Amino acid sequence: MKESYITTAIPYVNGNPHLGHAMDYLLADTLRRYMMYNGQKVRLQAGTDEHGNKNFKKAADQGVTVQKFVDQNSQKFQDFIHSLGVEYTDFIRTTDPDHERRCQEIWTKLSNHIYKDKYTGWYCEGCEAFVTDKERDDNHGECPDHKKPYVKLSEENYYLRISDFKDKIRNAIESDRLKITPTFRKKEFLNLLKNMPDVSISRPKEQVEWGIPVPGDDSQVMYVWIDALSNYITVLGYPDKDISGYWPAHTQIVGKDILRFHAGIWPAMLLGLGLPLAHNLLAHGFITANGEKMSKSVGNVIDPQDILAKHGLTPFRYYFLRHASTTDDVDFTWEKYEASYNELANDLGNLVQRLATLCKKNEISGQKVKKRENPDFDSRMQKYEFNFAFDILWDGISELNKRIDAEKPWALVKTNPDKAKEVLRKLVADLLTINDRLAIFLPDTAGQIEEIFTAKQIQPPATPLFPKN
Ligand code: MSP
Repeated sequence: MKESYITTAIPYVNGNPHLGHAMDYLLADTLRRYMMYNGQKVRLQAGTDEHGNKNFKKAADQGVTVQKFVDQNSQKFQDFIHSLGVEYTDFIRTTDPDHERRCQEIWTKLSNHIYKDKYTGWYCEGCEAFVTDKERDDNHGECPDHKKPYVKLSEENYYLRISDFKDKIRNAIESDRLKITPTFRKKEFLNLLKNMPDVSISRPKEQVEWGIPVPGDDSQVMYVWIDALSNYITVLGYPDKDISGYWPAHTQIVGKDILRFHAGIWPAMLLGLGLPLAHNLLAHGFITANGEKMSKSVGNVIDPQDILAKHGLTPFRYYFLRHASTTDDVDFTWEKYEASYNELANDLGNLVQRLATLCKKNEISGQKVKKRENPDFDSRMQKYEFNFAFDILWDGISELNKRIDAEKPWALVKTNPDKAKEVLRKLVADLLTINDRLAIFLPDTAGQIEEIFTAKQIQPPATPLFPKN
């Protein structure tokens, strides 16, 4: 059986994981849980992008070998992903010898589309990427993410001839065979594609020492993107193994800043290798702090562990999955976070506490989860509108709160105990049905709720799910 394959961008390891890195993982995990809810088998890759100058420099600053430096930092990312309650099936490191060898084989297979030339262009040292003249002009000569001027760089490089594949890429994107979500980013990218030049895919060894050697040319190492993008298939074992059980990926999830690499260079590589393009490319927005992209170079990063330490995992996932649109930026402030926590406590925490207390008093026993169709929810999820799908569940929770208030089972029990019990049983059944899908977003809390309301005797939790501050 074909497994659905979901991929996440692999972060650079020259610094610690920061809050911005969480978005890829939360979205991928949500999609994975949704697909599994629908009975699909899912493979989810994560990994770390470990080559490039910055690691070299940082390791030297710390007086450790580069390998030791990237080992430590890769581990931090693995711990970080786990701390978000995200479960991946594969973790790839680009310094893994299998990846390096496979990358060289990929290069060799692409050699018909690769040529050597002198390259002169505008380069952002922060992004480790060249930009077009137009982009430089649009950004007034300065990288908006790193706040540093672009520098002119001239060197001998190998190029991938994107022009060999432009028409095919355009057709695939226009026809949604490679579907880019959201549509405004698809349009943006199609515009960019028109003038997309061939891309440099290597750097002289004296510029970048920490990289995969170019096969047959000791003076050059692969430029990070060709190495990094290959991870999506080397992790599956390409080219040694048949990857058709997983590839093409169902969905590749990336931040908006790296969409162009995934919609341009990556499809060109796949076409050059004779492999199909992914089905979907989802570009999410940024998590900002005071409206600015969080970035190490800008120095405004928020440590996700501080947020997790405040109220635990569920409020974290709730904030970023319900209050962040899948495709637009979301701003993080502690004020907004507290408001979101209170909403969670008031709507869901109170509901569980009240209902379980009433059930205990009236000796209502737990019941099995009844699954019910929810086409509106499915339609939102399939469009990657996860936050709107979450809203649908929340409407259901608000509805249950209103029903308790309106039907007053605590009063009804005095006049019509049978009816009161029936009301409570129905409330429990409906909560369990909603909760079944809530597990897609808030697996830990949904697990607790299921335990409470499927138990032989329903009991409220000893401490409320979301204690008041
Ligand atoms: N190494 C490359 C990706 C290679 S994928 C073949 C890279 N690394 S990164 O560390 O800069 O970014 C990793 C992911 O985190 C990207 O999807 C990026 O968009 C995302 N984010 C980094 N900062 C972000 C925010 N502040 N907000 C949301 N996501 C952003 O790019």
